[in-house]
Order: sequence, then structure tokens, then C-alpha cells
Amino acid sequence: CGIVAYVGHREACPVILKGLKRLEYRGYDSAGIALMNSDLTVYKKKGKVADLEAHLAGQDISGNIGMGHTRWATHGEPNDVNAHPHFSTSRNIAIIHNGIIENYAALKTLLEEKGHTFQSETDSEVFINLIEDIRINNKCSLEEAVRLALHEVVGAYAIVVLSKDAPNQLVAARKGSPLVVGIGEGEFFLASDATPIIEYTKDVVYLNDYELAVIKDGQLDIRTKEDIKQTPYVQHLEMELESIEKGGFEHFMLKEIYEQPRSILDNMRGRMVAEKDHLMMGGIREFENKFVNADRIIIVACGTSWHAGLVAEYLIEDLARIPVEVEYASEFRYRNPIVNERDIVIAISQSGETADTLAALELAKSKGATIFGICNVVGSSIARATDAGAYTHAGPEIGVASTKAFTAQVTVLTLIAMIIGSKRGTLENSKLRQLMVEMENIPAKVEECLKLDAQIQQIAAVFKDVTNFLYLGRGYNFPVALEGALKLKEISYIHAEGYPAAEMKHGPIALIDAQMPVVVIATKDSSYEKVVSNIQEVRARKGQVIAIVTQGDQVIPSMADYVIEIPETSEQLVPLLSVIPLQLLSYHIAVLRGCNVDQPRNLAKSVTVE
Ligand code: G6P
Repeated sequence: CGIVAYVGHREACPVILKGLKRLEYRGYDSAGIALMNSDLTVYKKKGKVADLEAHLAGQDISGNIGMGHTRWATHGEPNDVNAHPHFSTSRNIAIIHNGIIENYAALKTLLEEKGHTFQSETDSEVFINLIEDIRINNKCSLEEAVRLALHEVVGAYAIVVLSKDAPNQLVAARKGSPLVVGIGEGEFFLASDATPIIEYTKDVVYLNDYELAVIKDGQLDIRTKEDIKQTPYVQHLEMELESIEKGGFEHFMLKEIYEQPRSILDNMRGRMVAEKDHLMMGGIREFENKFVNADRIIIVACGTSWHAGLVAEYLIEDLARIPVEVEYASEFRYRNPIVNERDIVIAISQSGETADTLAALELAKSKGATIFGICNVVGSSIARATDAGAYTHAGPEIGVASTKAFTAQVTVLTLIAMIIGSKRGTLENSKLRQLMVEMENIPAKVEECLKLDAQIQQIAAVFKDVTNFLYLGRGYNFPVALEGALKLKEISYIHAEGYPAAEMKHGPIALIDAQMPVVVIATKDSSYEKVVSNIQEVRARKGQVIAIVTQGDQVIPSMADYVIEIPETSEQLVPLLSVIPLQLLSYHIAVLRGCNVDQPRNLAKSVTVE
């Protein structure tokens, strides 16, 4: 979910609506707003922020203080009633909430016994009634009631509370879900990330867990839930407004696909200069010995980030000869994993907020492992919970389907594998130099891959109405096959499976008939010949082959129905190129099917619940 609140000299409603649109990637099944003018009024609607906007037409939406929410349903189906904000029983206080209150059922029973009534099925409505209850019983201020309530709730939250009796005041708190305070000239903003804020101010404070922010009388007061006053650490953000706008592209996803030459370059900047033999990464330097002597590296992540982790398994084992395990964070955290002080755990997360990944790294930390984070969002929870780390510097990624964040993650992981490999002496100098030179060529080669756009659009038109897709790859291209299939599923709702090409004969081959498109990544590398055989196996069953090959391939064009040629590069770097046509293929298929590419159904970009 995404939250935005405003207090200051502007009209609050337009600021909040615009902010919510920027946060829609976090959830978009319903939206709502609370405004304070002569009364505290809540408007909410199932659907996107645009539906809420339409619903507001003709209403009195004046006022300089308010808060809004865009939801990704956890408790209760997406409908008008379950949308946020939620009122307390007296309708004196309203709340917006991102997260999950785990003990809400017990609290609800207790509150019902005391006469509180509930309109929705949400845990958030329980939270606001708890605050009201404390306020009445203790006859205390709003902020005090919120602070005391934090001692009662178990779970994750970022909340903002607005009360009729304190009409110029916003009270916010966080635990486990992000919350940023923007500090302008005589105005304040609260939001789940900085994107709704930066067009007004770049000075922000990231709240820490168990902190409350009270904004009243033009002052920001931050204290812990133990009531200890904190000195806010104000950061000045570098982010530019244009980085969060579409800039002439039809969709954020397409813009982000096209940004990849740039984001990969940004990622290497300062870290690697081949001709100067310079290769270093700030985050690694401090922990170099730990990396060099690690018994094992465990990677925890979810979704696309997990696929980047799989690429890293090939890279690190190949170049640095350290055993790597790649784990779904959600599985790792609940299966009593074996972890010790000599392990390094790398948590990969674009948003830096994924609840399962955060919990997995906390678990590993408690067992003594060194935690290294690879995040895109600066100041995010995972970035702050790690011992060391590297940012992916891809810039804000807004399309729900991850593209540039994936290649940025793979770039960072490649550099890490190269650094550790060279320190451990498992990567020869000559090979290292060759990889460095080739890495520097990657942005230009990605640019070449993007020129395939028109060709891929034509292929997309052929296959847009199929119901199944199979993606095959081996070695470094196996995780790419998984990622290609995930992209297609996410945005076009076509069922797609990624498989190691050789495993096809153990099951998926049964699916192949003349209707089945099979994307085979068959670049010139050590498993090329084997993949050619796999293509034959598909052909023999009349499957339609779309092959991603290295430029100049003489063999595959005579076997495949469609051939997409990408530039040649080192085997270890191929994923950075081979994924590009797959991103474009899924994009065009989804567009041709009329799907909402940037906001696919049921998904959210940042999943802050487990
Ligand atoms: C969600 C997103 C995916 C993403 C995954 C992990 O499911 O829809 O695109 O890969 O979360 O997110 P993270 O921010 O941790 O990389």
C-alpha cells in the first residue's frame, strides 16, 4: 500500500492525489482520502486513484491538511468499505495504514466488548479504535494515545492519524513499513517513499522503526514509542523529478527497459575502469576478508531479485569458487536454516522493503552471519538493516514488472564475483581484465538489443493470443528463462514456465504441440550444442521455436521459426543481454492484449506483508 499526507499552505487534496498516483505501483485496488476543513471527511473508492478523483468531483475538497491511501488488499476484499482511511467508532479520528496487525482479532474482540463497532473487515479499523479507546480511557492527547497503542499492536505498520479535535496535527508512526517525512518551507509531507515529495522538497527524514512523528504548529517532533525525543536526521535527496515521470514513453515499463544502457553504466561508475585496472566497491572493501574467507554465500530474495540471485550463483561459483545457495526468502525464514558466523548472506531487493526478505536477513543476522544488502531504493529498510551493501543506482523503478532493477542487480553481482574472484586468486588476471573490458561494452550492446524492438513487436503480434509459453535456457541463461517467463505471466496473464532446457524432457515436453511457443535462449556459450539438441526436440513435437541467438549464428536460423540476434559477449555476461528481448517480448504481448502493463492485476511492486 502507499500512503501520503500533507499539512501546510497548499490545498492538500491535489498534493495528496498526485502523490498517490506516484505510489500506485505499491497497490491499486482501492484508494481514499481524508480531508479536514469544517469537518473531517473521508472519501474512498474501489479501483485506482483516478476512480477516487472522479468520485471527488463536486465535493468540498478544500483544506490544508489531509491524508490519502492506495491499497493492496490483505484483510478483506478490495471494495469501498475496506478502502482506507478508516474512522474510529465516534468518527472523530481517522487512520491510513500500510502493513498488517497480527493480533487484530484479539484486539477486535476486546474493543467490541467495550462497545466499539466496525464497518470493515480490516485490521486497520481495529488499530484506530484501539487509539480511540486509549484516548478516552487515559484522557490523553492524540499523540500520546497513538504512542501507547504502539505498545499493544503486534505486526507491521506505517500509519498516519488525523483527528477532529486536533485539526492542525498529523501523527505518524512506523514499524516494518517505510515512512518518509518531507520538510518544506512551512509545510510537511508524509509518504511511503520520497516520490510524492521530491517535487516540493528534497529534504527528508526517514522514520525508524518504533518512532512517532508529530507534526503540529509548523514543527516536526520525532520520538520513540518509549517517549524519548529524537533529533531528526535530515537527508538531502539527489533524485530528480524527471526520473519518476514517463518522459514521452507510453509506459513506465518501456521507459525503464530503455534506461538500461544508462543504469548499467551508472552502476559501474566509480566501481570499475578497465584501462586503469580499477575495480572496487565501497561496501565490499570493509568486508573483504569476510568475503574472501567465507565458507558459503547464501542469497535471499523474492521474485525477480531471486532470479538475479540465481545468476549470481553461477557467477560467484564460477569466478570466485565459493559455494552459493539461493533461497526464496519466504522459505528460508521458516525452515530453521543452518547459518553460522562464517556465512555471508546477501539480501537482494529492488525496493528494500520486501517483508520476507527483511525477515530472512534478520534471522540470518541473529545467527551471526554477515549481512550484505543489494538494494535499489536508498535508505530503504533492508539497506538499513544490513552490515554492508551496494546500491544498484538504477533510479526509481515504477513499472510493477521489474526490468532495469534486474540488470542493475546482475551488474553489481557480476562486479562482486569479479572482485572476490580476483582477491581469492580463483580468477586469473588475464580473464579478469577481459571481463572488465567486456563489462564496459555491455551498455552499448544493450543499446543494440533495444534496436530489436520492432522485430520483437512483430513476433509479439503472432503470439499474443496463445494461452501458454515455455522458456528454456541452460547455464547462465537458465535464470534468464525463468525471468522471461515471469515477465510474461506478470503483465500479460499468459501462463508461462521457465525451465532448464535439459529438464524439458522430464515433463514439460508433454505440453508441446503445434500451438506451443517455446522461447529458447541459445547463445554461443559452453552449452550451445546441447541447446541446439533441445531445439530439435521441440521441433520434433511441432512446437514453435523463438530462438535468442548470438549474432551471426549459422545453425539455428534453419531450425527456428523466429530468430532474435543479440551481440556476442562473454558467457558470464550474457544474462545482461539475453534478458532484454524477453522484456520487450512480454511488454509488446501485454500491450497488444490490452493489459495494464504498469499496473498488472493483483500485483504490487513492493510487498511489505509476508
Ligand atoms: C514483488 C514485485 C516483483 C519483485 C518482488 C521482489 O512481487 O512485483 O517485481 O521482484 O516483489 O521485490 P524486491 O523489491 O524485494 O526486489
